[in-house]
Amino acid sequence: MGQQHPPIGRAAALLGQARRVVIFTGAGMSAESGVPTFRDALTGLWRQFDAQTLATPEAFRADPALVWGWYEWRRHLVSRAEPHAGHRAVSAIQSRVPHAVLVTQNVDDLHERAGAVDPLHLHGSLFAPRCSACARPASVPDDGTTEAGPTGGRVPPPGCVRCSAPVRPGVVWFGEELPRAALAAAVEAVSSCDLLVTVGTSGLVYPAAELPHAAARLGATVIQVNPEETPVDAVAEVNLRGPAARVLPALVEATWGDTGRR
Ligand code: OAD
Repeated sequence: MGQQHPPIGRAAALLGQARRVVIFTGAGMSAESGVPTFRDALTGLWRQFDAQTLATPEAFRADPALVWGWYEWRRHLVSRAEPHAGHRAVSAIQSRVPHAVLVTQNVDDLHERAGAVDPLHLHGSLFAPRCSACARPASVPDDGTTEAGPTGGRVPPPGCVRCSAPVRPGVVWFGEELPRAALAAAVEAVSSCDLLVTVGTSGLVYPAAELPHAAARLGATVIQVNPEETPVDAVAEVNLRGPAARVLPALVEATWGDTGRR
């Protein structure tokens, strides 16, 4: 059972006082833009598969067209989606707080499109494909060439212009390391923050899921925005049980009196 009256006032007081804030987002942040959360993504065409097995280097090696097609389908979905009021509220927090770092596990670009400053993408991006052999960055396919993504399932990946090996999605798969620079910057931000706001993440996938716990251990306050209970409840000083698109603008308004950006 969630709380009936979200303690938004307490959260606003904490946010209003904070000088160094980390906003940490997961798939629930994009849900109300129509991008299904990771664990809800395997509907329709993809129902027969298991996300945990598709999002692996082994799956790509075994069936590159299947995995590339799945990510192209997701990229199309994201391209058609629009950021919501919660994404804009995150950018508003960045513009109000003296030092606010956005750390996201999301591979979409909705934060960027809502005006976020330098989001750290811990799990990579749908828009940064690279060669699976030599790691040369590859261009995102033209929309016209990827129509099979949303409709036909399998799409053979393009070849690398340098070495001809298959191009792979620029996302982090299970069993792979997180991008070092982004992870280091996130750890640094978490180590020095006085408040971490976690939004729409199940807190199950490590090492990213460690960040709210690390912040709490190091003395920062944690606020959680999520309609459901998660393992982060244990360290969150305030739990705002509701959807990001409603709760985050309400939090900005309760803190600064309006939802607009300065
Ligand atoms: P999950 O799909 O595990 O969890 C989504 C969370 O969002 C859940 O806790 C939901 O309760 C919550 N949620 C759903 N709708 C929401 C809404 N409207 N507002 C706020 N919260 C909402 O997604 P992540 O925690 O992001 O990694 O998953 C972490 C990683 O697991 C992903 O980045 C992906 C996946 O494996 C990789 O691909 C490496």
